[in-house]
Amino acid sequence: MSLVDDAARVRENAYVPYSRFKVGAAIRSTNGNLHLGCNVENAAYPEGTCAEAGAIAAMIAAGDARIAEIAVIADCPAPVPPCGGCRQKLAEFADSDTPVTLATTDGKRLETSVGDLLPGAFDAAHMDGV
Ligand code: THU
Repeated sequence: MSLVDDAARVRENAYVPYSRFKVGAAIRSTNGNLHLGCNVENAAYPEGTCAEAGAIAAMIAAGDARIAEIAVIADCPAPVPPCGGCRQKLAEFADSDTPVTLATTDGKRLETSVGDLLPGAFDAAHMDGV
């Protein structure tokens, strides 16, 4: 099964009573483990969390540290672009060339990378010397 299939599977569990827009994310960590996340919304809208954030939290909770590859899937006309906050979250735990597959439930795919999604990312090195 591909990482996109894993993302599609966890997408079904998304809690989306407000947007009705289900998103699934699957991370393969550098240790070779699979970590899954879906979006979880809240009546207080800003408290909702994205699928990518859920998968990252699952990875860290499982004791893995780095993303080797991630796939994100949603039911939309074009492969779903991660929000700005999720791009920054991905950059924290991945390299610039870490592969990202953005997918739609009807089979469209966009292969990109964490660096392409967030060029010039702010990272810990920018605080060196402080
Ligand atoms: N969402 C994600 O989970 N990931 C993305 O990459 C884009 C947006 C969620 C947040 C919210 O629950 C719903 O999609 C609509 O914005």
